Amino acid sequence: MGLTVTEKCIQNSIVVGDWRQRGSRIGLRAHQTLGHDLNAVMTFLALDQLGITHVQTEVSVQYIDHNMLQADYKNADDHLFLEQMCAKYGVICARPGSGICHQLHLEYFGIPGKTLIGGDSHTPAQGGLGMLGIGVGGFDAALAMAGQPVYLAMPQVLNVHLTGQLPPLVSAKNVILKVLQQVGVKGAVGQVLEYTGPGVATLSVTERSTITNMGTETGATSSLFPSDAQTRTWLAAHDREEDWVPLTADADAHYDGQIEIALDQLEPLIALPHSPGKVVPVKTVAGIKLDQVMLGSCTNTALPDVLQIAAMFAGQRVASHVDAGLYPSTRTVLKAAMQVGAFGDLVDAGVRIFEPMCGGCNGCGFAPQTHGVSLRTTPRNFAGRSGTADDQVYLAAPEVAVASAITGVITDPRTMTWPQAPAAAPTHYQRPANLFIVPQPVTTVTYGPNLLPLPQFGQHAATLGGPVLLKLPDNVTTDDICPAGALYLPIRSNIPAISQHSFQSIDPTFYQRAQAAAGGILVAGANYGQGSSREQAAIIPRYLRIAVIIAKGFARLHLANLVNWGVVPLLFTNAADYAAIQAGDQLQVDLAQFEAAPTVTVENLTQKTRFTVTMPLGRDDRHTVMVGGKLNAVKESEAGPCD
Ligand code: F3S
Repeated sequence: MGLTVTEKCIQNSIVVGDWRQRGSRIGLRAHQTLGHDLNAVMTFLALDQLGITHVQTEVSVQYIDHNMLQADYKNADDHLFLEQMCAKYGVICARPGSGICHQLHLEYFGIPGKTLIGGDSHTPAQGGLGMLGIGVGGFDAALAMAGQPVYLAMPQVLNVHLTGQLPPLVSAKNVILKVLQQVGVKGAVGQVLEYTGPGVATLSVTERSTITNMGTETGATSSLFPSDAQTRTWLAAHDREEDWVPLTADADAHYDGQIEIALDQLEPLIALPHSPGKVVPVKTVAGIKLDQVMLGSCTNTALPDVLQIAAMFAGQRVASHVDAGLYPSTRTVLKAAMQVGAFGDLVDAGVRIFEPMCGGCNGCGFAPQTHGVSLRTTPRNFAGRSGTADDQVYLAAPEVAVASAITGVITDPRTMTWPQAPAAAPTHYQRPANLFIVPQPVTTVTYGPNLLPLPQFGQHAATLGGPVLLKLPDNVTTDDICPAGALYLPIRSNIPAISQHSFQSIDPTFYQRAQAAAGGILVAGANYGQGSSREQAAIIPRYLRIAVIIAKGFARLHLANLVNWGVVPLLFTNAADYAAIQAGDQLQVDLAQFEAAPTVTVENLTQKTRFTVTMPLGRDDRHTVMVGGKLNAVKESEAGPCD
């Protein structure tokens, strides 16, 4: 039987396990790693603990794109620390403002068929090039840089079969919104979305990358396109044709499921607040008044997007009550757009132009007003992520965003006329001269006062218990657990400080209650921990002495972070047990029972009832949790420090 593109990529990087066994534990060795400034501080602190002297990958790249507002010393200290750590460990460092990690990596480093482990949930953006990109937390990123395997369950492969060609004013964002409409925000957990069919050849690499990037919102492990003539053209345009290899699924490849999307039947779609999975046709919500439009993010500001946006704004004006802004994705895009004169139309239209960075996407600038209604081309619209707690954020393609910015209300761009065609993208991109810092030996690393050592946690007792501090619904995000936004991102690496804001959007009294209780248990619904890869969302509960989280289900990446930081994840076996628990109930669980059985009994001491739970982990991960996390497990392993 033939192989899928996913299987071929995994064959190319597997070092532990059997890729033929879906769901079995496999270990992949990264050819490349990617980090960014929000998560990599923890990554480098972990690398220091692992005792290596140089990264063990073919290429490791650090980006400084997320935490760019320098309102005081904190972010600047982090940037300096990261640049020095890159030099210490042999990591290429993109200068601050060079661009958003995923797009910049696509332009300069991504290689078809290889595996990228990235400390960001949207690492699958490289799937647009046929590279297997898998997002992990900061600690797993450190292990990957140290040459150690990153473990995951061998995913199923879902065939997303594309036919036809996208109609005018319906761009690639609508493809992934259609997928989200069909599978939802947890419908692809444990799967790789692999795109096949005649429609694939009609999509450019940047269109494909928009789709694979936002595929993360389905819960998928990754998303992949083949490497074909489009891929070769893209690499050649970026002076990297030698990196091209053909990579397609075999004719008799087996897929675990299939969905069909007819590109020519797609219409403009939009995700409603506050979930990327609440997708409806734009026409059904047309007329809703907007306060803000944000163009950009890692999904939608490659050069063709910018050229389309500029052409649509030509001779037009942003509505007087709307604040519109554009974040170009990289300096490469910035330079090319300047060369074809694309910014003149944007400036005349009244569009604000920011530097290449994540910016408003993670609430690091451009937050909307109180109750603000914002339409964005970003991949996420979780409540409060924009930096404004009561925001109303919609997600749509650039064409919808431009039409809506001009009219001031949500607008289907097909209802307007657009006389100017976009300028043609160049067949060759000129490289800006000073994007990257090549590592040089350093003798000192500067730790700013906001940069605290990695938290150390001990092993668990067999019996754990405490009060239920929070009973949470389905789809709690890592933004809910550890807030984004310009006020909180600078203290992300200061666990005592960021802990004080944990769960504040759900219960502002949580931190004080957790402190007063000196620990406890969290109870959650399905898909707990969806969204960003931030491992602080796992560290904070542990720091607050919350040793156990019982949920209906965990998001893949967050589950891995819980293991790494020694938080015990337990799964309800019966939905009625979740319904019966009340906040404040005292629970107790003897984890030693797992030695004899796959399920254990939890006692509800308050209600004098019992229920059973499982632990969604294999033996090794279970051991890691019980010894208090990955750092302790690595230290006790016979292999010792790696180099
Ligand atoms: Fe940055 Fe937003 Fe993408 S935070 S990496 S632009 S999802």
